[in-house]
Amino acid sequence: MVYRILFVCLGNICRSPSAEAVTRALARDRGTELELDSAGTGRWHVGEPPYGPMQEAARRRGHDLSALRARQVTRADFEAFDLIVAMDAENLDDLRRMAPRDARARLALFTDYAPQTGATAIPDPYYTRDFDGTLDLVETCARGLIAQL
Ligand code: 4NP
Repeated sequence: MVYRILFVCLGNICRSPSAEAVTRALARDRGTELELDSAGTGRWHVGEPPYGPMQEAARRRGHDLSALRARQVTRADFEAFDLIVAMDAENLDDLRRMAPRDARARLALFTDYAPQTGATAIPDPYYTRDFDGTLDLVETCARGLIAQL
């Protein structure tokens, strides 16, 4: 069975789609087969593609986010995925609250895969406007995650 990972942020238009695309590219480079998806805890942006400035910053690094569409996390995701990776502590709290008691998925914080950075959250570039800083950290965390599989 292919290992399945779901990346989760608040809106599913900046951080988690980037995490999905960056991890997919790194896994492809290493020949690691994974099934990846992303979702948001909120529903404001459901059905929308990733945020324009986020898409542009990702495209400059070779990641095409244009086909992705935002969706909200569901309880079924806790059965469908092996690992659900939160972008910050609020996302993780929200996921813990909605997790079924017998959930299959393990929950983790993305920054836990890059302890050398000292970061405890992926900053939300929708608010910080630092899209490249977020992508730098996403790349470091994605490398750490893949190295642990
Ligand atoms: P994300 O960023 O969680 O990284 O997708 C956000 C984008 C938009 C909003 C929240 C977070 N919003 O509330 O509109």
